[in-house]
Amino acid sequence: MPKPESRPKICDYEGSNYRTDFWEGRGRQYEDRTERSVLRRILPAAGKRLLEIGAGFGRLTQEYHMYEQVVLVDYSLSQLQYAQQQLGRSPRFVYVAADVYRLPFRSGVFDAATMIRVIHHMADVPAVLKAIHRTLAPNALFVLEHANKRNLKAMLRYALKYQQWNPYDLSPVEFVELNFDFHPEYIRRELEKAQFEVQKQVPVSFFRLGALKNRVPTDVLVAMDNVMQRSGLLYAPSVFVAARAVGETPDHTGQNGLFVCPETGAELRLEGDTLISAANGQRWAIRDGIYDFKAPLD
Ligand SMILES: C[S@@+](CC[C@H](N)C(=O)[O-])C[C@H]1O[C@@H](n2cnc3c(N)ncnc32)[C@H](O)[C@@H]1O
Repeated sequence: MPKPESRPKICDYEGSNYRTDFWEGRGRQYEDRTERSVLRRILPAAGKRLLEIGAGFGRLTQEYHMYEQVVLVDYSLSQLQYAQQQLGRSPRFVYVAADVYRLPFRSGVFDAATMIRVIHHMADVPAVLKAIHRTLAPNALFVLEHANKRNLKAMLRYALKYQQWNPYDLSPVEFVELNFDFHPEYIRRELEKAQFEVQKQVPVSFFRLGALKNRVPTDVLVAMDNVMQRSGLLYAPSVFVAARAVGETPDHTGQNGLFVCPETGAELRLEGDTLISAANGQRWAIRDGIYDFKAPLD
């Protein structure tokens, strides 16, 4: 296990107003609705246990209603607290504060995972995809959204020399610290290296322009986007990928014991509101129904 100082940096949303600063009342109904519509097309009619990675305040969690259980993971305890207030406490929802690079789950316990608007904060894509793959059962569905560097606006800006970085180059571009845009082909290759079979890449949010959103009714823009999503033209600012986990991975979806120690992979035993590692006695807190794997208790 890498030492804390050598781990990839985390874009920390702890205590942020992401919900009210970015979504609610911020004129992004178009983006929200196009994301929901592509999810509705990709997700199956029924499933067992879905891992929502970087769930934030639970904006999209209700879209996963066809799964018996949804496990929300986010590094920010405060985002999860809000999600818990909205979705409630029930065995259907499990709230877990953890780093996606160090997921505290037994291998093969999920038959699906989603990661929407999160990978753009990841400096080490191969490590993240490997960590996610480990938690998935054979053939599990993985829905990944990524910001697309080869989008129409970037292509135009590059052609007019308003932008230095090349949108056709496969390597990720970090336009602000810990904010990356990715080429669809780079993501496809990295998924394949991490033992995912890519089934679909869907371009989403073609009409993400203030001037259009202010003039054209959202219903019309969403309908137009739905048509474009089927075009296969991967030039929209956002791309959703549907992939399947292949290769070596066990099927533990029937298992109740979800958690293992994120540092050592050891079994954990429950004592009151604490999970204790069988290997080294390290203790992890459960705070008001939220499993906290950000750091062990002293
Ligand atoms: C832009 S928000 C997206 C939230 C949600 N998926 C949505 O679409 O509304 C990104 C989320 O990723 C979480 N995040 C960033 N880095 C993370 C990491 N290393 N491990 C777990 N969560 C992380 C942040 O805390 C934040 O809630």
